[in-house]
Amino acid sequence: MESSQNYNSELKGKIALVTGGTKGIGKGIADRLAQAGAKVIVTARNHPGDVDLQHHFIAADLTVASETARVIGKINEKFGTIDILINNMGGSTSPSGGFGALTDLHWENDIQLNLLAPVRMDRAVLPQMIKAQNGVIIHISSISGISPLYESLGAYAVAKAALINYSKSLSKEVTPKGVRVLTVSPGMVKTDTMEAFLGSLAESANTSVEAITQNLMNSLGGIPMGRMATPEDVAELVGYLVSPRASYLSGANYVIDGGTIPTI
Ligand SMILES: NC(=O)c1ccc[n+]([C@@H]2O[C@H](COP(=O)([O-])OP(=O)(O)OC[C@H]3O[C@@H](n4cnc5c(N)ncnc54)[C@H](OP(=O)(O)O)[C@@H]3O)[C@@H](O)[C@H]2O)c1
Repeated sequence: MESSQNYNSELKGKIALVTGGTKGIGKGIADRLAQAGAKVIVTARNHPGDVDLQHHFIAADLTVASETARVIGKINEKFGTIDILINNMGGSTSPSGGFGALTDLHWENDIQLNLLAPVRMDRAVLPQMIKAQNGVIIHISSISGISPLYESLGAYAVAKAALINYSKSLSKEVTPKGVRVLTVSPGMVKTDTMEAFLGSLAESANTSVEAITQNLMNSLGGIPMGRMATPEDVAELVGYLVSPRASYLSGANYVIDGGTIPTI
């Protein structure tokens, strides 16, 4: 039996871009891809400061349309063609409180951040991947795109649902041209942003973070695994999906939620 696969260098020679790769899930993914030998470029609005960042960093606000071309131009000039694109950046910028709390601007902001920014990024990167007949694009969505949480994440969930649909559609179009497109939908992941989100929910509900965490887990129907995911849990899945070991995978949405979603 062949057991000589060396996962530690399986991405050697690959150029990977991870949007929002300075924190949370994105940082976990960036570190995992670098461990597998990829040259990793991360973007975010702010440099992570004193955090030990081993990746190439480009500052950009990708909700601003013109920033995408600048980032891609810079990467092409300095490193060459992008082989792996992880559209990780995203999040909710809206208040909780259900439909009545959301203005048009909240809707537009969440759609810009979670849907239009990845769409623009794909549009900029795909011509080079198609030309090379090689590439993998991952969209980081969320289980809220499948199982909405109307109280606190209404507009975000809609944007993530649209991202899943778009990702499937794109895979149909470009898989025949050599580019694999996949979606990863995490459940609750223990990041700083998640902790801050739980903290603000607890404050507005005048309760403890523990109680609000349990509430949120209950509203999802519970997490059978009994804990939130870590960024590393998600990164391990992404590390596999972009590797040559996953060469037949395209068009699917991978839920990573410790068993949360109750449906088949
Ligand atoms: N955490 C969870 O429980 C969870 C669950 C399901 C899905 N997700 C999804 O997983 C992804 C990562 O989530 P996370 O919790 O790890 O996020 P996070 O810790 O808040 O990190 C977000 C990253 O994106 C960057 N970013 C935010 N807005 C940006 C903008 N306009 N332009 C450029 N970069 C921007 C941030 O850096 P700057 O602030 O410096 O720009 C940071 O690097 C998101 O798509 C999220 O929706 C998360």
